Amino acid sequence: MQQAEQLLRPAVKGQNGSGCPLGSSPGTSYGQGCFVSAEKPGLPSLHQELDPLVWSCISVWESSSGVYRASQKQVSVPAEAFYQNHGNLYSMMKGKMGPSNLHMFTGTLCKELHEHMAHLGTGGTGDLNELVRHVMYPAVVNTLFGKGICPTSQSEIKEFEEHFQKYDEDFEYASQMPECFLRNWSKSKKWLLNLFEKVVSDAERTNPSETTSKTLLHHLLDNLQGKHLAPNYGLLMLWASQANAVPIAFWTLVFILSCPSIYKKIMEDLASVFGKAGKDQLEVSEEDLKKLPFIKWCTLEAIRLRSPGAITKKVVNPIRIQNFTIPAGDMLMLSPYWLHRNPKYFPDPEMFKPDRWKEANLEKNAFLDSFVAFGGGKHQCPGRWFAIMEIQLFVVLFLYKYEFVLLDAVPKESPLHLVGTQQPMAPFWVQYKCRE
Ligand code: HEM
Repeated sequence: MQQAEQLLRPAVKGQNGSGCPLGSSPGTSYGQGCFVSAEKPGLPSLHQELDPLVWSCISVWESSSGVYRASQKQVSVPAEAFYQNHGNLYSMMKGKMGPSNLHMFTGTLCKELHEHMAHLGTGGTGDLNELVRHVMYPAVVNTLFGKGICPTSQSEIKEFEEHFQKYDEDFEYASQMPECFLRNWSKSKKWLLNLFEKVVSDAERTNPSETTSKTLLHHLLDNLQGKHLAPNYGLLMLWASQANAVPIAFWTLVFILSCPSIYKKIMEDLASVFGKAGKDQLEVSEEDLKKLPFIKWCTLEAIRLRSPGAITKKVVNPIRIQNFTIPAGDMLMLSPYWLHRNPKYFPDPEMFKPDRWKEANLEKNAFLDSFVAFGGGKHQCPGRWFAIMEIQLFVVLFLYKYEFVLLDAVPKESPLHLVGTQQPMAPFWVQYKCRE
């Protein structure tokens, strides 16, 4: 056991010398997506001993009450309040955004996406990532928080986006470093928390009594204990709802647009459900989305390939896994990014192959077995079905409305993002125009 414990040193980023697991290759100490251990020559390492799937196995997170989230610092929520609120808020979000409730969002989201796509005009050129962001941020925020609650008008949104981007960029460092080392991040966080003071008071004022008229933010306020923390939780919810889904919407489009056979199939599918392009305001329902499984597979495949670099947890009480005891204080890390590149589970792992999702039982809301982009257990992303739906809907509307000429080579993913989904390393300029 002592031998095993020697191997189980804290798993913090940068221990492979590269500063980032995305810079290493499968088979290194971050290899196959599972674990960071200080390996010693001649001794078995934990990730060799444990099948990655066993390792990624959700029971580690689920059964261990000793595991807590390391992200409370980013929005200044004290640990006690975090624990007190977690169960309640998590169930609320999981329920409201579960597969059977998605139809409640589709209509509003569709309208919002049209409204903000209209700001792009009938044609132009731009960095695709920016174009996606300009449409997705306001549309999703208005859908989840209520219209007019967060700044979404063209004039207000610039400042908001600048602060939000800064906040998002250094989000992961903020869990490790004192705020005084992250001056700009701290400034943006304060700006956003100030904004959320107003957002919360507006939402409280307009909180309707009937459940069906409430937004997700209203539900959050209704369920929160410790009302003074409402701005902090509002900001956390905003970050969670935007930071991962927006880059994935970008990558889904990139993979589709850069692969002619996939693009052709999608355009045929769209024509078969909605007719040839030309209708100005396509109304897309949940039922329509069900008729377009290939776009859903493309979304899931983009998530697989650009999934978070790491999900980390700190061990509070020692956890036993097979023959290993992981001591309190160690960090555990699962890397969806690397696990999704293990050919044992995903043949041709680097290839964008939407068809592999045919095997998943999506009607029963099950992913492919070794797909862990949304984490697992009692912290598994409660917004996952909403995320997949919003991206699918956005891709449908965007590709139906515009055609594109690609002006740049497809960018690589930036190695700087460990916690969330991957961002592009360089701009990706496109020319777009409305279909005739
Ligand atoms: C492609 C998009 C998304 C990805 C890849 C993603 C991924 C994740 C991951 C990996 C976690 C941590 C799971 C864990 O600790 O085990 C998480 C947590 C969370 N996500 Fe998402 N997410 C996405 C979109 C969303 C959306 C759209 C929302 C809300 C509308 C959302 C809300 C949350 C919340 C509230 C948590 C915290 C759960 C907890 O700690 O109990 N996510 N997400």
